[in-house]
Parts: sequence; structure tokens; C-alpha cells
Amino acid sequence: MVKFIGLDLGTSTLKVSTDNMAKLFKIPSIIGDVNEGWTGMAMDKSWINNLILEQGGREYFVGELARTQSEIKRPIASEGKMKSAEEAFIAIKSALSLVAEDGDEYILCAGVPVATPQGEMKELSRLLKGDHEIKIRNDATSEKKDLSVSAKKCLVIPEPYGTYYKTLKDRGEESAIDAVMIDIGHGSTDFLSMYQGHPMRTASGSLNEAVDTLTSRIAKKLQDQTGRIIRPFDLMKSIELGRDDVMLGGERFSIKEVKEYYAEQIARIMVDETERLISTLPPDAYVELYICCGGGAYTFGEFIRNALAEMKMIANPEECVIPEDPVMSNAMGFELVAQSRIE
Ligand SMILES: Nc1ncnc2c1ncn2[C@@H]1O[C@H](COP(=O)(O)OP(=O)(O)OP(=O)(O)O)[C@@H](O)[C@H]1O
Ligand SMILES: [Mg+2]
Repeated sequence: MVKFIGLDLGTSTLKVSTDNMAKLFKIPSIIGDVNEGWTGMAMDKSWINNLILEQGGREYFVGELARTQSEIKRPIASEGKMKSAEEAFIAIKSALSLVAEDGDEYILCAGVPVATPQGEMKELSRLLKGDHEIKIRNDATSEKKDLSVSAKKCLVIPEPYGTYYKTLKDRGEESAIDAVMIDIGHGSTDFLSMYQGHPMRTASGSLNEAVDTLTSRIAKKLQDQTGRIIRPFDLMKSIELGRDDVMLGGERFSIKEVKEYYAEQIARIMVDETERLISTLPPDAYVELYICCGGGAYTFGEFIRNALAEMKMIANPEECVIPEDPVMSNAMGFELVAQSRIE
């Protein structure tokens, strides 16, 4: 039986959807060199957090293991693009190993950041297609697995298309509608415009403003206020938990006001960019929907909706959609795209 897999290669995490969206998981989008020193010390012996892949006679730490243990590590995507098809391939093979059984056959659909050059997208789809041997090792237990799998079909498309496809399916739309996706990630925001069912490259692009812009601004503000050095990255957890205050050296500081102030300003920048991009669409284009996804939708979604309304780009709030699971929605949509390719 053929299995369907949707993959979303983000700059901070790689997301996977399979089993009719019942199985969803993510790993940090990082690969790194092997650091043997601590092997077997980990308390957590799960495959997902102890993944080593062998590829071309070399071993790589992947995901959480690379993030925490590799001395030399690289993100597989940054600045709004996938950097190398070979490295993305290593990460995808590793992610596949977490769901694959020996002998499996797949139809894969993978999303990459919008600014990824088309040559790299083609190269990745070429690498993914065909028969693969996946050799993995668990760093904590030393257990090994050797799997033979086959990818019957592979598609590599721009990331936010997954959310577009899923949103239209959920709404029961029979035909394609013109829409703009605003995918707010950790380090960049991707814009994808759809016109008559096709992605419009000229009206798509990416911005550096994203969740890390907000954490950098809050860190700077707290630093001025307290004289302490605060790393933006350390504020990420508070943002994810929706906290309005943080603990610094045993003292509590409110971030409510700065967070709201900057979230509104940054959302405004995103909507300005949206307006600029849609002005390049053909005059008969009629944008019916704006879809705000990515982990940043939790923080910026409402501000974006308000800014779109203020700028008269939408007439009512329902024209700006925020998916129920904005982080996984691309991967889920790609699984649906893969399912549609069975015939
Ligand atoms: N529940 C949540 N509430 C608030 N913020 C969240 C939540 N979940 C994730 N985030 C934030 O969203 C960001 C990650 O978003 P996402 O997974 O969409 O990024 P990505 O796809 O890896 O990166 P990019 O889109 O830049 O390639 C992180 O900065 C994270 O802190
Ligand atoms: Mg993303």
C-alpha cells in the first residue's frame, strides 16, 4: 500500500504529517557533525531525539540531537530559502525514518521556503524520487535500523501552498480562489500569492521580520530596563506560552505592553508588504482570502487581521483566515496534495 507524507521544511523546524493527519511531528531543521563524547548518557532514549543518519559513508546528527550536541551544525534553511538540496535530503530521509517501515512505498510532497531557487527545488525532487536505503542509529541506545523505501512520486512546492490547499479543502471550495498566504515563521515571513490556482512568483516573496524580530525588540527593551543581557532566543518560550511577564534574576518584569506595541508595528510592516505584492497582480485578480499561518500567526494573526481591515484590504474579519493549527497546516496540506496524486 502506498503511504502519503507531507513535509514542511521551515527554517526552525521540519514538520511531518502522515496517516491522514493523525501523525504529526516536528524536528529542529538542523544537521550537524557527530559528537561521540556523550553517547549513551541521555535520559531520553527516543529515536526522534537521538537520531543519527548515515549518508554517503558519513554520519550526521539530525534534529534535536544536532541542536543540542553537535559542535558544528547548520540550519537546512535560512533567510527565506533552502540552502542546499543535499542537506535538505539528509533531513528528510531522517524524518522519514521516524515513520517508515521496511519496504514502504510513498508519495511525498515537500514544501520549501518561498525564496528557494527553482533549480534547488528541482534538485531536491530528483534526489527524493526513487529507491532509498535509510540507515539510522540511535545515539542513546546504539540501536541500528536499515530500511529500504521507495518514493513513487515527489513534489517540491513553495511552503505556504500547503495551507492554501488545506484551507480550500476545509471550506469545500470547488474551484481555486485568489488568495494571499502570510506564513510567519521564526526567522522570516513568506508571502505567496495565488492567482487562478497558480502561485504568482512576482507577487510572492519574503521579509526578515518574523517572530525573532519581536523577541529581539523585547530583549532590547528589557536590557535597557534592567541592565542585564537577555538573549532573544530565551524569550521564545515565554512568547509560545503567551506569557505577559518574565522572570529575570528572581524579579518579575511585564512584557505585555512592549509585546503588544511591537507585534502591532511588525504586523503593520507585513501588511504593507502584502499590499505592495498584490499591486503586481493582474488587474482582474480578486483576492478573496488572506491566510495567516506559521507559528507567528499566534502572536501576529489578530494584529494582521486588524491592519488588513484598517487598510480596507478586507471588508469583514472572516476574509482573514487563521488555521486551527497554523504551525502544522502546511505539512497537513501537503499530505492532502500527496493523496490527490494517487491517480
Ligand atoms: N503556540 C505558539 N504561540 C506563539 N508562538 C509560537 C507558538 N508555536 C510556535 N511559535 C513560534 O513560531 C515560530 C516558529 O514558527 P514556524 O514553525 O512556523 O517557523 P518555521 O516554519 O520553522 O520557520 P520559517 O517559516 O521562518 O521557515 C517560533 O519562533 C515559535 O516560537
Ligand atoms: Mg514555515
